[in-house]
This record gives sequence, C-alpha cells and structure tokens, in this order.
Amino acid sequence: MPESSRKKPLRVAVLLSGTGRSLENLLTRIADGELPVTIVAVVADREGARGIDIAKAANIPTYTILPRDYDWVMEEFSKAVTYELESHEPDLVVMAGFLSLYKIPDTLEQRVMNIHPSLIPAFAGKGYYTSRVHEAAIARGVRVSGCTVHFANNEYDQGPIILQEVVPVLADDTPSTLAARIFEKECEAYPTAIRLFAEGRLRIDGQRVHILPASGSTS
Ligand code: GRF
Repeated sequence: MPESSRKKPLRVAVLLSGTGRSLENLLTRIADGELPVTIVAVVADREGARGIDIAKAANIPTYTILPRDYDWVMEEFSKAVTYELESHEPDLVVMAGFLSLYKIPDTLEQRVMNIHPSLIPAFAGKGYYTSRVHEAAIARGVRVSGCTVHFANNEYDQGPIILQEVVPVLADDTPSTLAARIFEKECEAYPTAIRLFAEGRLRIDGQRVHILPASGSTS
C-alpha cells in the first residue's frame, strides 16, 4: 500500500489515577497488532500512580497534574489537563481508572471515553468507584453485573453508552472476585470500543450510540 493511502493510527491520550492495568492492556493489544492506535500522552491526577511508570517504560510522555494544586476547582484542574493533552493533538481521550471529574472542553466533545465496572446506570455516579461498586452490587443481591464503555460528559458515569458486557454474580463472590471477573471483560470491551471509534463506526444520537457496520461488510 502506498504510504499516502495508509491510514494514520488514531492518536489516543490516557487519563488515569492508579495501577494503569487498563493502560497495560491497551499497550499489549497495540503491540499484538489488535488495536490500530498510538498512545501519545498519559496524565495522572495523583502522585506515584503506577500507570505513570508503565507509560514511562513505554516511552510515552507523562504528566502528573494534581487537583489540590488548583484548590480542587475542577474547571481549573481540567484546563491544565486539557492544555497538556492538546499539545499532543489527541483524536480520542480514554479514561482508564481516572477518579477526578474531568470537565471536557468543547474541542474534545464526544471524543472522551470512560469505562466503568458495572452495568450503568446501576452502581454508577459519584461515590461509586473501585471496590465500592462491587460491594454495592453484592449487597443489593444482583444476579449479574459487568462493565460499561461510554462516551464521557461532565457528570460521573453519564454519557452515551457504547458497549456493555455482562458477568454473573456468584453466591460466594467477594468484591475482589467479582472485580476480577469484570476486569477480564473490560480487557475485551475497551479495546473493542476504541477500535470501533478508530474505524469511524460510532454515531452518537442523543443518549444512544449506533454501531455502524464495518466498511465492506454486506450486513
Ligand atoms: C477498572 O475497573 C475500570 O472499570 C475503572 O477503573 C479500573 C481500572 O483502574 N474505571 P486501574 O487501571 O486498575 O487503576
């Protein structure tokens, strides 16, 4: 294929707060040739996030931007994040275990994704993060839980849903066994959603996302 007609990989920036397991999964998928994207920057909102070490090891530019340095005014914090992101011209911003509320600028509207470890709208929104999500699901006695990939807006875990994957909740589940079962699904769902975005196959229609057929597909 001539150089000029080869599609450029989607430029993805990642926001994270913690272990960076989702980032690690994306890097593995990219290395395996399953995900046609390049990660152009990683931003953490806390010091010592392992995800930053993972990014550095992969030679990805990293930034640590702390809400407390902006007196917890999330608009100001978000502006600082956007400033660094935009210097890398991302096509898509992916929140991968990011716990701050990022106020999305107009320039990135409909270009920020999040993954949440429940079937939104259950066990989602402010206060539902990390093991609290799974504690709440087990305490409520739900029979299934799962993960949701969605476009982010300026509210926690709102925004149009792209994909959901379901797992059973077992009688002897603890928050950590349930989290592990869901994370396995996340490792498929997030790359799939990003690939669909890269292929231009996601159309937002209000709160709904339509997944368009692959080009060349007959269905
Ligand atoms: C995942 O469970 C994801 O659903 C949630 O954060 C977790 C990943 O965070 N948004 P990390 O990569 O383990 O820090």
